[in-house]
Amino acid sequence: MKPFIGAIDQGTSSTRFILFDKNGEIILSHQIILNQHHPHPGWVEHDGKEILDSVNKCIDVVMKQYYEKGYGTKEDIKAIGITNQRETTIVWDKTNSKPLHNAIVWCDTRTSDLVQYFTSKAKKEHQQNNSNNENKCGLPISTYFSGLKLKWFFDNCENVRNSHSKGECLMGTIDSWLVWNLTGGQSHVTDVTNASRTMLMNLETLKWDKSLCDFLEVPIEILPEIHSSSEVYGYVKEGPLEGIPIAGVLGDQQAAMVGQMCFEKGQAKNTYGTGCFLLYNTGNDIVYSRNGLLTTVCYQFGPESKAVYALEGGVAVAGSGVRWLIDNMGIAKTSQEIEDLATSVKDTGGMYFVPAFSGLFAPYWREDARGVMVGLTHHTNRCHMARAVLESTCLQTYEVLEAMQKDSGDTLLELRVDGGMAKNNLLLQTQADLLSLPVVKPCNLETTCFGAAFAAGLAVGVWKESMEFKVGSKFTPQLDQKNKMKKVNEWKKAVSKSLNWVD
Ligand code: G3P
Repeated sequence: MKPFIGAIDQGTSSTRFILFDKNGEIILSHQIILNQHHPHPGWVEHDGKEILDSVNKCIDVVMKQYYEKGYGTKEDIKAIGITNQRETTIVWDKTNSKPLHNAIVWCDTRTSDLVQYFTSKAKKEHQQNNSNNENKCGLPISTYFSGLKLKWFFDNCENVRNSHSKGECLMGTIDSWLVWNLTGGQSHVTDVTNASRTMLMNLETLKWDKSLCDFLEVPIEILPEIHSSSEVYGYVKEGPLEGIPIAGVLGDQQAAMVGQMCFEKGQAKNTYGTGCFLLYNTGNDIVYSRNGLLTTVCYQFGPESKAVYALEGGVAVAGSGVRWLIDNMGIAKTSQEIEDLATSVKDTGGMYFVPAFSGLFAPYWREDARGVMVGLTHHTNRCHMARAVLESTCLQTYEVLEAMQKDSGDTLLELRVDGGMAKNNLLLQTQADLLSLPVVKPCNLETTCFGAAFAAGLAVGVWKESMEFKVGSKFTPQLDQKNKMKKVNEWKKAVSKSLNWVD
């Protein structure tokens, strides 16, 4: 069973540390739920210090159990990997490693005015010199990505500008923030997958692009060094993992691709977490979308290897829609109760729920969209509402897959799934019905964490190539085409209300 590899999964809703054995089996894990701060409508922040404390606490708990249960010595843990919520952006002072502001979370929409500003700037530049930034970074101008969040810090925080003028300000996505702190300020790095979510990295060169930084009016010198997803970035400075190499870093959705062993061109997975993200492996080809998808780096295993790319369709609200029903609407106490409510009715009673709380991501990219519920009658109750929320995740995934098949010209044979919501069998059956595709859940649902562990294990020679993908369960489509298309068409009408709710 020895040696072991650890992985930190710093997600939007929680932080985890998991120890895996040589067979990829989980031996120990600990999770801490993270506070979300909403100082204004549309704003979502995390406290960088709380993130760090949660990581250290998870490591402490797991390592205590590791020794108590006699699994081995510290030397048996060969490396750790990090996977993280992507795009979430933090700036800190390098002299004391203190955050200069709360981190701005990926689904925060405070930069919507900047989207308007940069969209017209891009149009002008395109007319003047035919430049196309979207083709350099693979991303549309959106509140979602780190570049606009960084610009917001500089426009709105005097302490950030002061710190930068003294040469003391550093920027990072959450992976950078963690590596910086875990190595005691030795390494200011990120990996290609996280860098590909900033709008600042050139997809071909895999380097920060001066013209992209100039366009977004952010300083290039405060960005972390870009590395591959699998190599030694530094060593843990103190605590129970002191001296252990940090050897794998991947954004969480790319980590799930690795954990699902989607290494072949044409393979795809969908992760149902806070949001829901479908990635499709395009091999070494950079495929630009004509249908509202993103082009991103999937992974690069070692500095000498070629990067593998992916097309991605992101849905901003999936699990967070369930949380909203629980926390804001109070219709249930747990997500299991939401599943039970949803299963207790045979359909949504004709209602649709479009959870555009952060605007709509793929394939619409409309930050002005807002959530709507349509089709309500006297018959509608909380069970229909619970079912409509689950269905909204599947219907949004339908639209993403539709775009993906148009872009790639391929038809998927199956969709691999994972993430917290993938425990919900009703959700997965509905997904198979709406996609007319088998939906396959692996034995190990902790694919995101395992992906980061796998990248770290590759770097230190614990693993050599891909591992066996073990099917846990398979959901086959049961809905006839006519009923499926009725649902899809009605959904698209509901989406049109969400896009134009104000007119
Ligand atoms: O792009 C945002 C994504 O990385 C967040 O993932 O699992 O926290 O929803 P998750």
